[in-house]
Amino acid sequence: MKILVTGAAGFIGSYLCERLLEKEDIKVIGLDGFINPALILTKQRNLKLLLSNPRFQFHQVDLRQADLRRLLDGVEVVYHLAAMPGVRTSWGTDFKSYVDHNILATQMLLEAARGCPLKKFIYISTSSVYGEKIGKVTEDSIPTPLSPYGVSKLTGEYLCKVYQVSYGIPIVILRYFTLFGPRQRSDMAFHRFIKGILQGEPIQIFGDGKQTRDFTFIRDCVEATVAALYAEGVIGETINIGGRERASILEVITMLEDLLKKKATIEFTERLKGDPLDTWADISKAKSLLNYNPTSSLKSGLEQQINDICDMPG
Ligand SMILES: NC(=O)c1ccc[n+]([C@@H]2O[C@H](COP(=O)([O-])OP(=O)(O)OC[C@H]3O[C@@H](n4cnc5c(N)ncnc54)[C@H](O)[C@@H]3O)[C@@H](O)[C@H]2O)c1
Repeated sequence: MKILVTGAAGFIGSYLCERLLEKEDIKVIGLDGFINPALILTKQRNLKLLLSNPRFQFHQVDLRQADLRRLLDGVEVVYHLAAMPGVRTSWGTDFKSYVDHNILATQMLLEAARGCPLKKFIYISTSSVYGEKIGKVTEDSIPTPLSPYGVSKLTGEYLCKVYQVSYGIPIVILRYFTLFGPRQRSDMAFHRFIKGILQGEPIQIFGDGKQTRDFTFIRDCVEATVAALYAEGVIGETINIGGRERASILEVITMLEDLLKKKATIEFTERLKGDPLDTWADISKAKSLLNYNPTSSLKSGLEQQINDICDMPG
C-alpha cells in the first residue's frame, strides 16, 4: 500500500512514517517543505532513520508548489499533517502563514485528490478547535476556537467536509490533544522547560501555571493514527485523540524537577491570548472505533523526552 504523509519531517509526521514502515507491505511518500528555515537541523534529525529505508521516498517541497497529482499517483491513503502549528504565533501579521499552510495548502491537496481512488484522507486537526470547554469534551461539542491557529485548523476541517460531500473524498478527522515526548517541537512547553532547567535558565510560564492539559504521548498518538488506516466505519468521522493523564503546568514542572534533580527558576508572565484554561478529551469514540488505549504515563514519557533532549547535538 502506498501512503502519502505530508509534514513528514515534523515532530509527529516523522514518527508516523517510521511506524507505518514497520509494516512490510507499506511504502511511504513523505512530503515536507522545511517551512521554518531555522529548524533545518531538527528536520534532518527527524528524518535520519527514515532516509535509510528503501520503502521511504522523500520530497522536500512546499505543498503549494508541489506537483500533487503526480505525488498522488498510486496513493491509497493520505495523512495530512503539514501545517503551521502554535497558538502564540498565530496573531498579528504572522496569521498569513497560517492561512497559507493550514487553509490554502489543505485546499490545494484536496483539489488534487479529486478523482483519485483514495481509500482514506486522514486530516490531522487539534483540540484548539474546541476553545474553552468545561469537563471532558466530546466530538459533537460545538467548536469555538479561541485563537487564529484554531480557526485555521477548523477551516481545514470544513474544507475536508465540503470536498467529501461534493467529491466523495473519504475524510477522517483526528483531533490531537497536546503531544509530548522525544522530538517535541522546540517552541512547545515541555521542550522549553527541560532545556531551561538543564541549563539553569529561567523558564517562562504563561499565566499562573494552574492551567491543565490532556497530554498525549507521541507513541500513543501514533498508534491511534495508524489504527485509523485499518479501522472500518471511520469515514466521515471526527475522533479525539487524547492521552492517559491530565496535569497542570505546575505539576509538570514539579515532575521535571524530580526527574532532573534540579530546581526550576520560574518567571510567570501574562496569560496567553487564545489559550484555553483546560483541555480534556473524551476518548470513548477513539476507544470504540480505533481500539485506542493510551498506555504511557506522563512520568515515563517525560523521561524519554529528557533523554532525547540530552542526546541532541549542541
Ligand atoms: N504537536 C502537537 O501537540 C499537536 C497538537 C494538535 C494537533 N497537531 C497537528 O499535528 C500536525 C503536526 O504537528 P507537529 O507538532 O508535528 O508540527 P511540526 O511543525 O513539527 O510539523 C509540521 C511539518 O509540516 C511542514 N509543513 C508546513 N506547511 C507545509 C507546506 N505548505 N508544505 C509542505 N510542508 C509543510 C513543516 O515544515 C513541518 O515539518 C499539525 O497539523 C498540527 O496542527 C499537533
